Amino acid sequence: MVIVGHRGACGYEPENTLASFAKALALHVDMIECDVQYCASGEPVVIHDDTVDRTTNGEGFVAHIALPTLQKLDAGNGQSIPTVQEVIELVQRRAVLDIEIKDPRALNAVGTLITEYSERKHWSYDDFLITSFNHQLLVACKEQFPAIEVAPVFERFEQINFSVIKTIGAKKIVMDYRAVNDELMTVFDVHAVAVFVYTVNDPQEAVLLQRKGVAGIISDYPDRIAQELIQHTEHLEPILKKRTQA
Ligand code: G3P
Ligand code: CA
Repeated sequence: MVIVGHRGACGYEPENTLASFAKALALHVDMIECDVQYCASGEPVVIHDDTVDRTTNGEGFVAHIALPTLQKLDAGNGQSIPTVQEVIELVQRRAVLDIEIKDPRALNAVGTLITEYSERKHWSYDDFLITSFNHQLLVACKEQFPAIEVAPVFERFEQINFSVIKTIGAKKIVMDYRAVNDELMTVFDVHAVAVFVYTVNDPQEAVLLQRKGVAGIISDYPDRIAQELIQHTEHLEPILKKRTQA
């Protein structure tokens, strides 16, 4: 099971801040998810909403504010809104970085950064994943940056589009965990596509999803999920051993 820290480890630290990403790393996640918007001066910045209103002490659209002004805002506990590059520099290959692009205008800058780190800074393309609810953005990404792995995000079963999945060569998809059922798992199993789910904060739910065959769990409390799955496996081991011996 791949454990993914949602917006860093946003159950513990303000979402999408360096403190949140550092916390996720301290909790030894396999992957870190972050959300990306595009600001007025052209940098891709790490913030979930298209406005700064909910998560900072400022107001207005991210796309209307230049980076120096954005960086002065308080994103919680004195943290500021990071750029994608600042997050990459913090992560330092200690976890795969799942960059969820919210604003398609950020694609070019994000793709260029990933290419630069993978080809000139001793990182690897395997250190990155671009995800998005905007599937046309992923098609454009594959055309412009074929070496970058991309995965579509779906909210509902009816949204699943296999022609897009095929076009972008997706090896994984990200799905709202409430939409996961046996039919969905069978369909993706047949196509050899791994299913990652968001946002699972109940450890018992994680156990059920693991039984269904989910490959990755995105959580605000990644440590709680990992702990439960480990305990569950330890509990199962003697039972499985007995069965094999019988
Ligand atoms: O990784 C998918 C998940 O993060 C999508 O939901 O609203 O948290 O961006 P949201
Ligand atoms: Ca997200």
